[in-house]
Amino acid sequence: MEKNFKRNLVTCALPYANGPVHIGHLAGVYVPADTYVRYLRLRGEDVLFICGSDEHGVPITIKARQNGCTPQDIVDQYHTLIKDSFSGLGINFDIYSRTSSAVHHKNAAAFFRKLYDEGKFITKESEQYYDPEAKQFLADRYIVGTCPKCGSEGAYGDQCEKCGSTLSPEELINPKSKLSGAEPIKKKTTHWYLPLDQYEKWLSEWILEGHKEWRPNVYGQVKSWIDGGLQPRAVSRDLDWGVPVPVEGADGKVLYVWFDAPIGYISNTQELLPQSWEKWWKSADTRIVHFIGKDNIVFHCIVFPAMLKAYGEGYILPDNVPANEFLNLEGDKISTSRNWAVWAHEYLRDFPGKQDVIRYVLTANAPETKDNDFSWKDFQTRNNSELVGIFGNFVNRAVVLTHKYFEGKVPAAGTLLDIDREALAEIPALRKSLEENLTNFKFREALKDAMSIARVGNKYISDTEPWKVAKTDMARTATILNVSLQICADLAIAFEPFTPFAAERLRTMLCVGLNAGTDHRKGEQETVNTYKEGEGAAIHTGIAPQGLTLNWEQLGATEILPAGHQIGEAQLLFAKIEDDAIQAQLDRLEAIRAEKEAAAKAEAAKQVAPQKAECTFEEFEKMDIRTATVLAAERVPKTDKLLKLSIDTGIDQRTIVSGIAEYYSPEEMVGKQICILANLKPRVIRGIESRGMILMAKQSDGLMRFVTPQEAVTNGAVVG
Ligand code: MF3
Ligand code: ZN
Repeated sequence: MEKNFKRNLVTCALPYANGPVHIGHLAGVYVPADTYVRYLRLRGEDVLFICGSDEHGVPITIKARQNGCTPQDIVDQYHTLIKDSFSGLGINFDIYSRTSSAVHHKNAAAFFRKLYDEGKFITKESEQYYDPEAKQFLADRYIVGTCPKCGSEGAYGDQCEKCGSTLSPEELINPKSKLSGAEPIKKKTTHWYLPLDQYEKWLSEWILEGHKEWRPNVYGQVKSWIDGGLQPRAVSRDLDWGVPVPVEGADGKVLYVWFDAPIGYISNTQELLPQSWEKWWKSADTRIVHFIGKDNIVFHCIVFPAMLKAYGEGYILPDNVPANEFLNLEGDKISTSRNWAVWAHEYLRDFPGKQDVIRYVLTANAPETKDNDFSWKDFQTRNNSELVGIFGNFVNRAVVLTHKYFEGKVPAAGTLLDIDREALAEIPALRKSLEENLTNFKFREALKDAMSIARVGNKYISDTEPWKVAKTDMARTATILNVSLQICADLAIAFEPFTPFAAERLRTMLCVGLNAGTDHRKGEQETVNTYKEGEGAAIHTGIAPQGLTLNWEQLGATEILPAGHQIGEAQLLFAKIEDDAIQAQLDRLEAIRAEKEAAAKAEAAKQVAPQKAECTFEEFEKMDIRTATVLAAERVPKTDKLLKLSIDTGIDQRTIVSGIAEYYSPEEMVGKQICILANLKPRVIRGIESRGMILMAKQSDGLMRFVTPQEAVTNGAVVG
């Protein structure tokens, strides 16, 4: 923040309203953004925090079709669910609106129209797949077929979910329309394109030269897009769900979802602040920060900025775009369609009152520089040993002892000893690091700093043992508890961005308020928004019992709580999470994994190995294949796979070692008539000479069955 910014506009990627939000979304975008906003507010910065649902796009129409309802039904359902999840987790946007709102439709259409009128688009005619039965152009996701890369069925026109290849609909083998099942035909259609190539130089100067401080993952992705050469991008689609293209003769066409959605940030600001929204988007002294996931980088760093540049009218560009990588769950990629996720609304249901724990764990494991993993065991450990064991434990001891010895009044400190001074001296240093890390979007590191303050406190109170000192020296006990309570107040400040619910409980315990933020709607005549008084307002109105309020500047000050200040009753800051709660989550995931594995196995079993290269009859004739009977069988010691079989080949009795123990027990084999390759060169396996090979039919999932003549025949009958 070297430049002199007057206000901060912080946005979070608008989540698609076609499913609930999960921990991957939270860790990638919403928790860090909320942490950042709370920090800025604590510092007294002017902040506006904007989000909303992204309610257009093909997946929503597909989901509606699957559920036999309208796209509007889908977005209504998920908009509410997502909105409630965020507020349940203390992620308090100033507005959480939606792109299906009237304001937004009007805005997005006007935005397009201006660019259209000014000739900022180019048009291109192309051939696209069209469903002659449904009489509709088919978005990539509406076309399915055989994957040209891995041969599996059901690949989409844009991607094969089996092998992960990116595809174009033209590449699919045997394409079929998902709408009617009909074979799609090619039909000409015209679309508008934003010629990104014309903005290449400008983008390169702005980001590659001007924003070298951006996160390496963001900078790197932008660079590789630009180095690869930008292409014109279509900004319209043939679809019946979205913002209609506001041009004569564009029936059946809507704005591409990635054209309208980012305009949603502007629309939502406007909805909240109809009179003063422009200063947030068009003043050079506003600082815009977009929090997004890595799959959104190109849209926020290239497409949307190019749209704003084309539009002109003083729109400013983001100062930073902190994008996170992805979070995995128990070692596997999170997947909405496979239900491999921890859903925010289910978490809130299963762990009521523990919003801070998930916020804490997702920050501690934030995928800031690389993909990262969430595991329930780690969740439990971090709660029990860090939040409960260190932070909660320390605060509890300080507050309880203050009540025990000093009737809940902050005792005055006497002369400080080295141990007191040393503990207190650590905090300004940690504050500095905390500030640096938060300013640079390094939330994991910042959380470690905050936790270090709790560690300082916990160690201090353990080392000074006020419960023992109290038996002999009340003056010294007073000093120790005074120092401890100041550190508690430090924690109430330092943890407000990370664990706001606990911070609030701590403030209640310490009888202090919070000084953070402004209500921007003041002075607006009328606001037509979804923001409800009281919902996100808590943070704006720190109630200050006894007039004492905390703000960031006090962090590390030696006397935040004056002597004589009455504190409140001790209450639990965090509670232990027991094994059964964790096991229930693991069981749920295990059931999903088992189901998935069974499905994958069934699928694999159906695959057939391709035909081998040709061979001549003479080559085949070299193989002496015969019928034989198993006389005796036993496991080869110390192996899982091998059976030693004694065989009557009709010619002789011999031993064959065969890798079938996984599929047959020795008892099952005895007496069975089988086929063998009799003239295979003998081999010594585990010290046993094996003469020949048993013929097995092998499924591609590994399952093996021996081959047997349909009716019993003489041993030694030649097969061929
Ligand atoms: N809905 C998109 C996603 O979840 C994000 C849209 S962000 C916006 O990936 F800028 F377009 F709003
Ligand atoms: Zn594939």
